[in-house]
Amino acid sequence: MLMTDIIEKKRDKLPLSDKEIEFFVSGVTDKSIPDYQISALLMAILLNGMDRRETLTLTALMAKSGDMLNLSDLPHTADKHSTGGVGDKTTLAVAPIAAALGCTVAKMSGRGLGFTGGTVDKLESITGYKTALETTEFKKIAKEYGMCVTGQSGNFAPADKRLYAIRDVTATVNSIPLIASSIMSKKLAAGAQTIVLDVKFGSGAFMKTAEDAEKLAREMVEIGNGAGRKTAAVITDMDVPLGFAIGNALEVEEAVRVLKGEGEEALTSLCVALAAKMYQISFGKTEEESISAAKKAIADGSAFKTLCAAVRAQGGDEKLLTGEHKFPEPAASLELLSPADGYITAMNSETVGKAAAMTGAGRERLDDSIDYSAGIILSKKYGDYVQKGERLATLYGESRRIRDARERLLGAYSIEESRPPKKPIVYKIIE
Ligand code: URA
Repeated sequence: MLMTDIIEKKRDKLPLSDKEIEFFVSGVTDKSIPDYQISALLMAILLNGMDRRETLTLTALMAKSGDMLNLSDLPHTADKHSTGGVGDKTTLAVAPIAAALGCTVAKMSGRGLGFTGGTVDKLESITGYKTALETTEFKKIAKEYGMCVTGQSGNFAPADKRLYAIRDVTATVNSIPLIASSIMSKKLAAGAQTIVLDVKFGSGAFMKTAEDAEKLAREMVEIGNGAGRKTAAVITDMDVPLGFAIGNALEVEEAVRVLKGEGEEALTSLCVALAAKMYQISFGKTEEESISAAKKAIADGSAFKTLCAAVRAQGGDEKLLTGEHKFPEPAASLELLSPADGYITAMNSETVGKAAAMTGAGRERLDDSIDYSAGIILSKKYGDYVQKGERLATLYGESRRIRDARERLLGAYSIEESRPPKKPIVYKIIE
């Protein structure tokens, strides 16, 4: 088989056979196909698309290109994935809610890069918390406590790793079959029987419109179900940051507030929706039953207890969660005041995320270090009325950094005379 024939076929809008996709994925994995031919095929796929069979085949082969985690000895395994957002601390609350309901959430999470945060960084702000675990220990904790969230170890979907690195520098990220197969190959390799996807749209998301998010969600749900995993997607608004906190320790504290029933309304309802969906499809319950069970796990304290126990099992200081110990204080703080009277009609999430990264809460390159106490607490959000001079947000971190970040953050707000329409956090559910 010749790679040039495969490129020509896709260039001419013809579907690739399973054998041709297999040739491509194995050549990507063993590096026998050079970057320039991979780039050419990726651009042809971006321009001419892939049908469902091609996407399913590509995903399954990328999933099998490396290690596949075997979780079959754990009951009701359920995973969640977010397509990435600003202030997205949902895993920290969703995992213990789902675990309190009987799911096993054995989850490998990533680090933050650019304007989006990563769950592993948030968890590492808890003193002692170990994010590098051997598979046996990872599964043992998950079995005993119902949840275990670690960093990625092992060689999962190496074909995707190489393809993603090439897509990043060849303007070929933004293709629905390529995004769907990239995300789902890693989810299939991660082993859970139930997969719930939080597909975001808006200023802080890959997908800028709800329509595109829905197309991506449908594709991923088809792939997951086609591969024999029970899969659903929740399409959610990321035009506005999630909750009030952006920054690692700040977000852990906010997730704890959700579990104590004191969380922001939109954030709490999203956490409930995601955990309920994991429970619903794992146990074959109705949506209503599942939502009320998830709310009960918050109200009766069982979800919070589950998080504390799992954090302790992973070496973390659970007293940081109960409030008996305090997270380290940030070096300095600075307020951002409103420049005008009016309603907040927009808060560009990407700009808020970049400002948070500038405080020291995020990283530009994977080897940059992080200031766990840095970040932003929003005092006012989309739809709120503010008066000139009133506090919009507080920035935490090193003085020089937060001064620059404050300038950037101000650019995120639009303040106007008329009240903007209310927007629900959950736009649609696809199953
Ligand atoms: N996240 C992924 O893992 N892959 C993509 O292609 C886009 C987002």
